[in-house]
Amino acid sequence: MTDPTLQQPRLPVDAPAAEGETRPLKLFIRSFGCQMNAYDATRMADALAPEGYAETGTLEEADLVVLNTCHIRERAAEKIYSELGKIREMKEASARPVTLAVAGCVAQAEGAEIIRRQRAVDLVVGPQSYHRLPDLVRRARAGASVVDTDFPVESKFDHLAAPSAAKTRARGVSAFVTVQEGCDKFCSFCVVPYTRGAESSRPPEAIVAEVRALLDAGVREVTLLGQNVNAYHGIDAAGRAWTLAGLARTLADLPGLARIRYTTSHPRDMDAELIAAHRDLPALMPFLHLPVQSGSDRILHAMNRKHDAASYLALIGEIRAARPDIALSSDFIVGFPGETEADFADTLALVERVGFASAFSFKYSPRPGTPGADLPDHVPAAVMDERLHRLQALLEEQRQRFNRSAVGRRLDVLIEKPGRHPGQLGGRSPYLQAVHLEGPASLIGTVQPVDILSVGPNSLAGRLPDLGRPAAEDPTPALERLAS
Ligand code: SAH
Ligand code: SF4
Ligand code: F3S
Repeated sequence: MTDPTLQQPRLPVDAPAAEGETRPLKLFIRSFGCQMNAYDATRMADALAPEGYAETGTLEEADLVVLNTCHIRERAAEKIYSELGKIREMKEASARPVTLAVAGCVAQAEGAEIIRRQRAVDLVVGPQSYHRLPDLVRRARAGASVVDTDFPVESKFDHLAAPSAAKTRARGVSAFVTVQEGCDKFCSFCVVPYTRGAESSRPPEAIVAEVRALLDAGVREVTLLGQNVNAYHGIDAAGRAWTLAGLARTLADLPGLARIRYTTSHPRDMDAELIAAHRDLPALMPFLHLPVQSGSDRILHAMNRKHDAASYLALIGEIRAARPDIALSSDFIVGFPGETEADFADTLALVERVGFASAFSFKYSPRPGTPGADLPDHVPAAVMDERLHRLQALLEEQRQRFNRSAVGRRLDVLIEKPGRHPGQLGGRSPYLQAVHLEGPASLIGTVQPVDILSVGPNSLAGRLPDLGRPAAEDPTPALERLAS
């Protein structure tokens, strides 16, 4: 909601009105949290470009600072206030007027409270109002204290400015595209349904047009984003509802698009059509992030996850039947209220059964306003620490085993950027592993077969094959199945 008490100009008025500003303005955006926030940051920069704002990576030279925040766990939310304290110092030391904006999920959740806690903040803007940024920023620079955390009836996507081709090119060959936002699942630990609002899908035509523009500017891979991306149900101009599988099929036919990924999926929305798309579409990459959270049915029920461990395992079986080399990743929460050692053992057992290529795992963080926060039997911090340690040890062992199984194989790598050293290139395998190799910069934006030679802590090292030699490729599924 827009807070009318915060709309009056504040004294002293420390910023000149926008009309008086003639020199180029600099925008510094820092994003926390998920990939959707990273995508939103690009859209905010695009929305502000026609206002004369050019992006800078240097905080000290910014006229407008935007912190794009995450509310998912307490630590993420609290970190914002220490960041704001630092920016306040920079703002006070600056000879120019600096406008400080807080966007993202903390903005949505805390609204005007942010300005009460940190008076240096001029503007608080929730994720559904980014199309209003030019106006909101103008008002803030004129001295008003502005809060906009509405869920407007109009869709921001219909009003956000598109990036120039040059800007898209500068952002690289792999791009995010939000196709769905919000969530109606209400897992009892999670703030997202409150911060991002009800689930809504963008029309397919708008997504296809955005992807076409990205491809025209040289993008080769798109990652379709949504808090529940596989619940996508965009309605086209003829009134037909599209599924994520349908969208992926259409995108796969666009000339120039080499790779499609999507994240984050909910197990309940992983339908037969989407599983079949993994079998049928070579462009749909064999990597799936499918959060399970826990292996205990009792805890999954208390989390309101709407699936149990057996149905998750059965789903993994179906997905692997369709695409045997698919690499799986997941999210886990340890120490949800009431979690016993036996419940935690069920989580470890599920991890053993599946075999994950990568994963994120977190200690439960009670979030204000979520049902989980009011449950009895909160797990002591020391117990959570110890369980997280054990879970992460197992997941790390699986990740390393998965990466080691790539050594000696030839994998297709999308070459994305120059590497750290001259003559080096960096790219990604189909399984989202970072790969380094030697090669000319002209290969950036192409998919190359790469022989994987060794594995480091966070990446694989490979080399372009001598194409005079016959390929040594092994026709068996590219990566060892850990569960078998
Ligand atoms: N929409 C996705 C991800 C949501 S947030 C999904 O449905 O899974 C990303 C991850 O943060 C979640 O999967 C969960 O593992 C973790 N998370 C969310 N709320 C949390 C909380 N209160 N405490 C600890 N971890 C949390
Ligand atoms: Fe949060 Fe659950 Fe929705 Fe994912 S499905 S965003 S974890 S409420
Ligand atoms: Fe965080 Fe909001 Fe994303 S709470 S994880 S930034 S949807």
